[in-house]
Amino acid sequence: MDHLVDAEKRAGELRQMIAQARGVYYRPEGDAAEPLYSDAQYDAAVRELRDLEARFPQLISPDSPTQTVEEPLADRGEVAATESGGGVGEAGGASAFAPVVHGERMLSLEDVFDFDEVAAWGERVGATTLTAEPKIDGLAVSITYENGVLVQAATRGDGRVGEDVTAQARTIANLPASLAGGPHPAHVEVRGEVYIPVAEFEQFNAARAAAGEKTFMNPRNAAAGSLRQKDAAQTAKRPLRFLAHGVGALRLETAGDDAAFAPPPTQSGWYALLAAWGLPTIPGTRVVSGSAGALDYIRELGEERALLPFLIDGVVLKVDGLAEQEELGLTSRTPRWAVAYKYPPQEVHTRLLDIAVDVGRTGRVTPYGVMEPVLVDGSMVARATLHNGFEVARKDVRIGDTVVLRKAGDVIPEILGPVERARTGHEVVFVMPTNCPACGAVLAPTNEGEKDLRCPNVALCPAQLRGRVEHLASRGALDVEGLGEEGARALTNPDANRQDAVDALLRGGALWIDREAHYLRAPEGVDPADWDVAERTAAAHALLDRLAPVQAAPLTSEAGIFHLTPEDLRQVRIFRPAVGKGAGENDVAWVRAFWTTPSAPRKDGSVAKPSELSKSAAALLANLAAARTKELWRFLVALSIRHVGPVAAHALAARFGSLAAIEESIALHDLVELADVEGVGPIIAASLRDWLATERGQQIIAAWREAGVELADAPLAESEEAAPQTLAGLTIVATGALQGYTRDSIGATIALHGGKAASSVSKKTDYVLAGEKAGSKLTKAQTLGVRVIDEDEFEVLRSGGTLD
Ligand code: IVH
Repeated sequence: MDHLVDAEKRAGELRQMIAQARGVYYRPEGDAAEPLYSDAQYDAAVRELRDLEARFPQLISPDSPTQTVEEPLADRGEVAATESGGGVGEAGGASAFAPVVHGERMLSLEDVFDFDEVAAWGERVGATTLTAEPKIDGLAVSITYENGVLVQAATRGDGRVGEDVTAQARTIANLPASLAGGPHPAHVEVRGEVYIPVAEFEQFNAARAAAGEKTFMNPRNAAAGSLRQKDAAQTAKRPLRFLAHGVGALRLETAGDDAAFAPPPTQSGWYALLAAWGLPTIPGTRVVSGSAGALDYIRELGEERALLPFLIDGVVLKVDGLAEQEELGLTSRTPRWAVAYKYPPQEVHTRLLDIAVDVGRTGRVTPYGVMEPVLVDGSMVARATLHNGFEVARKDVRIGDTVVLRKAGDVIPEILGPVERARTGHEVVFVMPTNCPACGAVLAPTNEGEKDLRCPNVALCPAQLRGRVEHLASRGALDVEGLGEEGARALTNPDANRQDAVDALLRGGALWIDREAHYLRAPEGVDPADWDVAERTAAAHALLDRLAPVQAAPLTSEAGIFHLTPEDLRQVRIFRPAVGKGAGENDVAWVRAFWTTPSAPRKDGSVAKPSELSKSAAALLANLAAARTKELWRFLVALSIRHVGPVAAHALAARFGSLAAIEESIALHDLVELADVEGVGPIIAASLRDWLATERGQQIIAAWREAGVELADAPLAESEEAAPQTLAGLTIVATGALQGYTRDSIGATIALHGGKAASSVSKKTDYVLAGEKAGSKLTKAQTLGVRVIDEDEFEVLRSGGTLD
């Protein structure tokens, strides 16, 4: 992707995907499809976007997800909740780990995708000696040793601040608690990768599947999830390994040691030293001569790639001499002395078993391919979006086809097309449904000529409601831990998977209810082999209806979400693949979603352990109750109002402070004030006004208020008092893409600390805080002689320090 236009398009796609994956979808139409992305895909999307932005800095915008959240894994951590079992709890929530400020920033790498780019980089660095090393597909960590003793381990986080995972890292089998050899520096940050070897991953996943636990998409995800277990004893059970690939901050003085420590002059020298200290270094690392040597290495490793014990996604090239590295220096995020070559995406064949459709939060109906699961570039893929009916026709993929699959730009699985010569003639052409599969409403495009079909039944369609409830609870909205996709489904459409039970019965499998297996039996005197198919199907439905009657959903509108009680959840059951003792492979279980399964009744009919609210459901209700006092912007996002995304929500909350004030402004001035807010504008303002005027909108707001939802932020004065007024009297203009801040949040931060965030530079401006891609404001500052500061210097000011 060498052209800006392509890069821009791709960046747009990635941003959309990331936002969608975060559950915050702010495409102009405010549309959303089902989350079809795994954690790994999400991580890869963020990485790819970051890489694109590094190559085309003009694409960086302050609200790009790379600027708003830095470390996806830290946000989407696969933490204990999903794995503790019971109920439908899902991972999520604020970090449970203490922050750790890295002594030296943890940088990322510039990616290159072809040999020409490698050669061009080789020319730029002009170095003859390079290290060439496998790029391990794991997660970066920093391990601090003081006088040879491991004292701290931290994740990368945003590169400046990571999370303290010392207890977890101590359980990694090949990470030494104290270093061998010596002398050792007083303080050194050893940088490296935590990963799970491929063979161990497969065993580990198989064991989890056998125990009925959730399996991981790929080793990287599993490693990230494992390292971020709150309980280090759980981490200890995971096959994590460490490989060192560099050093960060280094302090030399050796405590009372005679032999002074002298750092090596080369990268390869460091690797030898780290190895002598007993630290595992990356096997296959080699010193090569210039980019020609690097290309040979890339070719060779490419051939051996599948045989390596760990997953790699490329080759890292580093200038070997540390003095040369120093001279070449850094860009804002990446060193100039290193580069990552990424291997091209793998294309694989698999069978398209079915084409199904999903109904998203805004009613958009998206067809997707259901495939025989297949490993593509290190992750299992079983689904790929096909976007819309036109796209299916254009690609001419038919159910039953062998299809070519790859991960587009390393991220989103994409069906490229059918393998026509593999056709048997039995393939079935897909036809888009005319009615909503969730509620039966007649589908139609919103506007004539649009390719996407939508379900118009906004209020009542259970699929849309499920999408909205999931969105409401997502991190970018109310951030309700324990309420994910499955939980939202159980609340709004618990019978969604009813057909699975019918299928199981028809296949001769069991439907398990409270530890009892139920089978479909042919009527007396009828030979099962001769049983009429239609009668059999009717009998399966009848049996199911008798054993597992159709349920009313606890929620029929998001209005009720803050009123949910344990009693509302008591009877809710969902259909799931059956696991555990005696369960056959295709059996289905009808399990309580929020309450525990009671113990089997004793002979006298009494029950030792009756059903009770599960821990995760109790936590979910507590989290919902706690969410009632969250910030206004979160509620504005949570309402799934078309066009109202986080940027507009922040801006509205900052300007008005409460929904009541917004309503009052609309009553008095219609859209005038609203549309005037930066980041809002007339379209968003009108959409908000119109939504508030609907009966459904009114009902939701009234119900939430009645449940004690405040829909108002604490008056600014209170929070002002809380924050030290370190910027009092200073006028600061922020410009460009700032690390760790969005355009809104930097303004809010300056104001919070008593400063004035101005939008244009004048002689009165004290500082111009310039990030990447700063433009005319930076030039103006330079012309007027106004001091320009970067994020680090701003941090100094904010925390009460002075600049020299
Ligand atoms: S060096 C300043 N070497 O790739 C350079 N990184 O895309 C810092 N990675 O964050 C990284 N294998 O987590 C380096 N042999 C290797 C690596 C490696 C994997 C990861 C690392 C880094 C990411 C950048």
